[in-house]
Amino acid sequence: MNIVLSLIVSGLAISALVVIPFAGVWAAPFYGVHIEWLFGIVIPYLAAITFFVGMIYRVVKWAKSPVPFRIPTTCSQQKSLPWIKYDYVDKLDNPSTRLGVWGRMILEVLFFRSLFRNTRLQYGEGQSIKYTSSKWLWIGAIGFHYTFLVVIIRHLRFFTEPMPFFVKIIENVDGFFQIFLPTAYQSGLLLGAAATFLLLRRVLIPQVRYVSLPADYFPLFLILTIAGTGILMRYVLKTDVVSIKELTMGLVSFSPKIPEGGISVVFYIHLFLVSALFAYFPFSKLVHMGGVFLSPTRNLENNNRAVRHINPWNPKVKIHTYEEYEDDFREKMIGAGLPVEKKVAPTENKE
Ligand code: HEM
Repeated sequence: MNIVLSLIVSGLAISALVVIPFAGVWAAPFYGVHIEWLFGIVIPYLAAITFFVGMIYRVVKWAKSPVPFRIPTTCSQQKSLPWIKYDYVDKLDNPSTRLGVWGRMILEVLFFRSLFRNTRLQYGEGQSIKYTSSKWLWIGAIGFHYTFLVVIIRHLRFFTEPMPFFVKIIENVDGFFQIFLPTAYQSGLLLGAAATFLLLRRVLIPQVRYVSLPADYFPLFLILTIAGTGILMRYVLKTDVVSIKELTMGLVSFSPKIPEGGISVVFYIHLFLVSALFAYFPFSKLVHMGGVFLSPTRNLENNNRAVRHINPWNPKVKIHTYEEYEDDFREKMIGAGLPVEKKVAPTENKE
């Protein structure tokens, strides 16, 4: 699909996700219809259920998939003969023990190690090519994921009473520069910046644009719109955080209630977009959050030279060995002058 079409499809989907709660919460009351309960209670619950059930389904399905042998798609030397170098880099990149696998997984999940090793192909003089280090994607991805995490942790203040101590610490560090009133959190702004960078990368680099689909643009648009409505709420429109907390605490304590005073429509739009993200998550590429732990190229030690791995579900095949074949046809083979491995015993001959 070409880029213009992809952007239109994704843009239309996001517009619908903004218009639906706007119509339901802002416009519907003009016609005497009050359905805040749908957007504030029913849809968030349905989205949460879809997220948890969907994630469990995907992870269990992966976990059940047989992985009969090791897949050493690594760059490093695997553990081999004692005189072949196998140093600490090899032990992490191509681990032969469980401990090494843990090390590799932790580095992958916390520091996106394989992305850090990303290289870029460049053409040199004549026909020559070279690979150079390329860290921009890694910087953008790390920035995006960590700011997302910080924003989510800070949001815990809406869902907990009293607020856990670490949320307060993160809030203080995040608002350290104390610019603006209310305090500007760098993570929210950086999240928007990182998502914009990832989007521009897809749009501007021809090779990346060529392999991009609506399924790549849509989640970025969605997250950008969530961050955008959040920023709008906090810094521009100043929504009623007390009423919002009343609603969110009702949701987590399973006694949901729409606050008497009402909440501004931009909050319902933010919440509807978040609900869409949660419901979409398990069925999209975003599910890599759970998938990385089940990736056979990351979670298995490479001990192919030390351990013989036999496919456990190989069917029992009735084989006919050469010995049996020779037993069946020995005399005929001898008669035809063919060499045999086992000589015919004289007694056997008489029979
Ligand atoms: C994927 C999940 C979410 C993301 C990425 C997200 C993102 C953001 C961002 C970037 C802001 C701007 C201010 C800041 O940096 O904190 C914000 C504000 C806000 N978000 Fe979210 N949000 C999410 C989920 C939610 C949920 C589930 C709720 C409530 C049920 C919520 C309610 C709010 C409110 C009330 C504000 C304004 C905060 C204030 O005025 O202090 N958000 N959000």
